[in-house]
Amino acid sequence: MTTSSSLSNEQFAFLDLKPEVGVIVDEVHRGLSLEAKAISPKFFYDERGSELFDAITELPEYYVTRTEMALFEAHMEEIAAALEENICVIEYGSGSTKKIRRLLDVLKPEAYVPVDISGDYLLSNAQALLDDFPALKIFPVCADITQSFDLPVQVNELRPLGFYPGSSIGNFEPAQAVDFLRRVHVTLGQGGYFLVGVDAKKDISILEAAYDDAAGVTAQFNLNTLVHLNEKLGADFDLDHFEHFSRYNADQGCIQMFLKSTVAQQVNLVGKVISFAEGELLHTENSYKYAKEEFIALAQSAQFECLKSWQDSNQWFSLFLLRAC
Ligand SMILES: C[S@@+](CC[C@H](N)C(=O)[O-])C[C@H]1O[C@@H](n2cnc3c(N)ncnc32)[C@H](O)[C@@H]1O
Repeated sequence: MTTSSSLSNEQFAFLDLKPEVGVIVDEVHRGLSLEAKAISPKFFYDERGSELFDAITELPEYYVTRTEMALFEAHMEEIAAALEENICVIEYGSGSTKKIRRLLDVLKPEAYVPVDISGDYLLSNAQALLDDFPALKIFPVCADITQSFDLPVQVNELRPLGFYPGSSIGNFEPAQAVDFLRRVHVTLGQGGYFLVGVDAKKDISILEAAYDDAAGVTAQFNLNTLVHLNEKLGADFDLDHFEHFSRYNADQGCIQMFLKSTVAQQVNLVGKVISFAEGELLHTENSYKYAKEEFIALAQSAQFECLKSWQDSNQWFSLFLLRAC
């Protein structure tokens, strides 16, 4: 664990808990050795991946961000009224920080802890936020939120509000989502709040278009995983020989994204040769969709009670304000 001292003062301190390269290599090797090859969606996100995700949020097909933002706009006063004072917002996978920017004036937290695995992007967005909100204490943490991590000591005395928008919780298998919520429960402690945005099941054509847009931005985002692995781990994936593929899996209730190998090929990845057959799929993301009651049951199995929830008029997206009990 390192804290960058040049970036530390009472107002702003960066905590770097990002995983070691050896840990990443082991994880990637494990996933690519499976019979059905798979890699965590966290590997979408280097700086370019974060920028591509931001471009996705502006696409006409990607209803997720617009719908969630409209819910925040409509209900932020009610959300703020349900909280205690002396709040510290801990955002899981903070990305561009666009959403929290809209909420800060109403939530009025004492401190904000953006947590993200995309370290450079995290730091530049946190510094930009400080420029725009100079009274806010900001303690960015570069960490893998699929593992336990410590919060900065500076926020120990504040009441935590975990913030997990964007339906990123849908990237976990349901059982893993419960494990994740249990870890969040430990991090926030009893009485901690958790505000989470969750995408709902809907017409398949709407779902499939959102993950396979006409302009091909989602395809670039998916393929960027291979660029990331080439740059970070010195792999030699040939981008001309993989293509984006996504579909809705109705049995599991999730969108699944893959990279399809268009030829039989071999890829070198830190001392291992990985063979792909023509047409073989590398699974890169699940995005589970939850009915309101399904998600509340999931949260309850991790000892969270649902204080309030909100949905848009189409019932396309839900916001839940949970409390660790
Ligand atoms: C889908 S984006 C959501 C960004 C933003 N919160 C929003 O709702 O628009 C997911 C964000 O989580 C980060 N992320 C993905 N997996 C992560 C992991 N395992 N640990 C930490 N951050 C992660 C990505 O870098 C990215 O910024």
